[in-house]
Amino acid sequence: MPGITQKADTDAIINAAELLRAGELVAFPTETVYGLGADATNGEAVARIYAAKGRPQFNPLIVHVADLDAARRIGKFSNNAEALARAFWPGPLTLVVERQPGSGISDLVTAGLETIAIRIPDNPVAQALLKASGRPLAAPSANRSGHVSATEARHVAADLEDSVAMILDGGATKRGVESTILDATGDTVVLLRPGAIATEDIEGLIGEKIKKSAPNPKAPSAPGQLESHYAPKAALRLNATDVKDGEALLAFGPTAPATKGPAINLSPSGDLIEAAAKLFAALRTLDATGARSIAVMPIPMTGLGEAINDRLARAAAPRPS
Ligand code: TXA
Ligand code: MG
Repeated sequence: MPGITQKADTDAIINAAELLRAGELVAFPTETVYGLGADATNGEAVARIYAAKGRPQFNPLIVHVADLDAARRIGKFSNNAEALARAFWPGPLTLVVERQPGSGISDLVTAGLETIAIRIPDNPVAQALLKASGRPLAAPSANRSGHVSATEARHVAADLEDSVAMILDGGATKRGVESTILDATGDTVVLLRPGAIATEDIEGLIGEKIKKSAPNPKAPSAPGQLESHYAPKAALRLNATDVKDGEALLAFGPTAPATKGPAINLSPSGDLIEAAAKLFAALRTLDATGARSIAVMPIPMTGLGEAINDRLARAAAPRPS
């Protein structure tokens, strides 16, 4: 059996594409840093990304696509976004745009947000892999949570060898820093993360000084956390062991309480990866029933349970009206 790390030749890329289509994780080089890739339309595959990173949190992920047509299938491009894409793609620029409804991208990729971060990487291996897989690929930097980003295949192996099906070795990455992230949803472009494309170059294109998002001392490297998170209209009652009148049920595991109201079980077998994959879509579906409250069964704090509980706690928190 070949090793996990393989030189990114044509055969290896074809094999990697097959693995991705089958829902496996593949680490691949981009021009910035190595990415930990999964089929962005496969919720369970995406859930495995969060599990592999360790200390998981459902930060929204960047979706990598091969070309502008593929990008338009998953995002709505404002005039600003269109101009930025034409100027800097393929390249180390990530554009946050509105999600295209019905695109098939898993809700877990966008962490339930109405926006989506997209980029077209400028790296021959990444390009070949995107074309061979025919899927949009969700990929955060291929490092364990809290570690620095990987710019060589052996860095990826040191961090993630046990949790990926393949590491495509395309040599050291050219840029070594992550992509610049811009919010291009509105009339004003906002810098969410400085990166491999200089701010001045972006200002040169848009013809004005760029606005920067307010820094968050708690999460300086996670701009996605600053954005409004998906918050259901219904109240959430956490750690519920029964269902009250008028409540919907978000269940987990084999021993769900009986109810006549709307109910979704995140994983009847108690599998946290399956549960993570279903979480945001389940909240949406239950919320759409008009239930005043959603009773949420306890979810264990192990593995992806930590991230699931973190999101549920945020969704349950009182919010300004
Ligand atoms: O260069 C890069 O961008 C690398 C390579 C692999 O492409 N990827 C990367 O991904 O750095 P990651 O997951 O480490 O960082 C993605 C950032 C996160 O800080 C996340 O919060 C932000 O993108 N993000 C993703 N979707 C967003 C959204 N809809 N709104 C705001 N921020 C978003
Ligand atoms: Mg990162």
